[in-house]
Amino acid sequence: MDRVQQIQQNLSARWAERSPRTVANQFAAPLFGSAGEWDLPPGVTPKRDLLYLAVGIPDSTSLPKQALAAASQRVFEQPGDLALRYGFGKGPSAIRRWLANHRNELEGTQVNEDWFQMTNGSSGAIDLVVRSLINPGDVIIAENPTYMGTLHNFRGVGAEIQYVPTDAEGLRTDALASLLQRMRSAGKTVKLIYTISTFQNPSGATMSLQRRIELLELAYQYDVMILDDEAYRELWYDTAPPPAISTLGDGYGLITTGTFSKTVATGIRIGWIHARPEMLALFARMRFGMGQNQTGLRAFGEFLDAGEYPPHLKKIRSLYREKRDAIHSALKKEVSEYLEWEVPQGGFYLWAKLKPPMKLEPLWRTAVEEGIAVNPGSGFSPVEESGTAYIRIAYAWTPVEQFSEAAYRLRLACERVVASDSA
Ligand SMILES: Cc1ncc(COP(=O)(O)O)c(C=O)c1O
Repeated sequence: MDRVQQIQQNLSARWAERSPRTVANQFAAPLFGSAGEWDLPPGVTPKRDLLYLAVGIPDSTSLPKQALAAASQRVFEQPGDLALRYGFGKGPSAIRRWLANHRNELEGTQVNEDWFQMTNGSSGAIDLVVRSLINPGDVIIAENPTYMGTLHNFRGVGAEIQYVPTDAEGLRTDALASLLQRMRSAGKTVKLIYTISTFQNPSGATMSLQRRIELLELAYQYDVMILDDEAYRELWYDTAPPPAISTLGDGYGLITTGTFSKTVATGIRIGWIHARPEMLALFARMRFGMGQNQTGLRAFGEFLDAGEYPPHLKKIRSLYREKRDAIHSALKKEVSEYLEWEVPQGGFYLWAKLKPPMKLEPLWRTAVEEGIAVNPGSGFSPVEESGTAYIRIAYAWTPVEQFSEAAYRLRLACERVVASDSA
């Protein structure tokens, strides 16, 4: 047998039956083979074509395709190879300058391009922050509920996650104060407080100004940094949210992440870290990736410089306001007996609380059977509080014409769950 055949046989004897779990590190191993956050319930077959109210992505008819195509075209017409070669550092200065000016206009700050590091979406931003700051065993405090993707990332570096309840005014600072005190007494290192301060995923809540100030005071008192995920901040419908936490604290001890995924398109993968330049220098040293996607960033920079963003934002704000109104009335008509919710003032999500005796797992499964996919709240809320349960209804992407039918199917599911409960 020749040597190549022999080594192939040997390798196959070793690897063919071996589970990747055996080589995974301690954080990846428990995840291997487990259900993904977005999977449908196992073993359930929908009776009809599924209506999806389970994805946090922009309305597909809102995508500014022509303006993006024209901007890309302009980039390719430029002389030289800037858009087609490695670009190290924080990302092209034009786009970071635009972000700084935009921030200054909205917030009355005086930041410049050095306060921005471009990343692969805000998930790339969060990943870079977490990999740069967290040691295994460090405590990260997160809101309950919160975005499951970030929790996944925190677990991936071996952080201990502690949760603080939220209400209509966002993170409960009274509960945060007790938790921080408990952590201090237990001798634990709390590294970060992670908040999605504005139009939160999944609850839709926005932290009030008073809570923002209390949060900063607590972060100072206990010497903990704050990571504010502003993924939905610009998506307000009627009234602008309170000042950003980074503005109130002048950036000290604060890291903010942002993204064009929710305002423009998820596929462009353009996000950023916004922090004081000294802090950004730390992240720049941790980054491996041979720079950013220059072609995409420069094309998007062209889109921004051409003034395309403000009218686009105006258009989608009114689109989502209409969709919010439509989903609210459809649900009110069909399921108010079974669910209750606060009307969201921005963002993509309606967070609906199950009224007793409705139960989460059977409702989720039956809803999929009836042809409507929503997200079970348990994924966002790893610690159950006083037996309550929620579903997240994501209404941004789904065509508005499907809302009445979706709400009707949800009612069928609710009725079936209640009937089988009392049977
Ligand atoms: C709160 C929050 N943060 C971050 C992200 C990640 O988005 P992206 O990486 O596309 O910017 C999401 C996506 O759903 C999100 O809801």
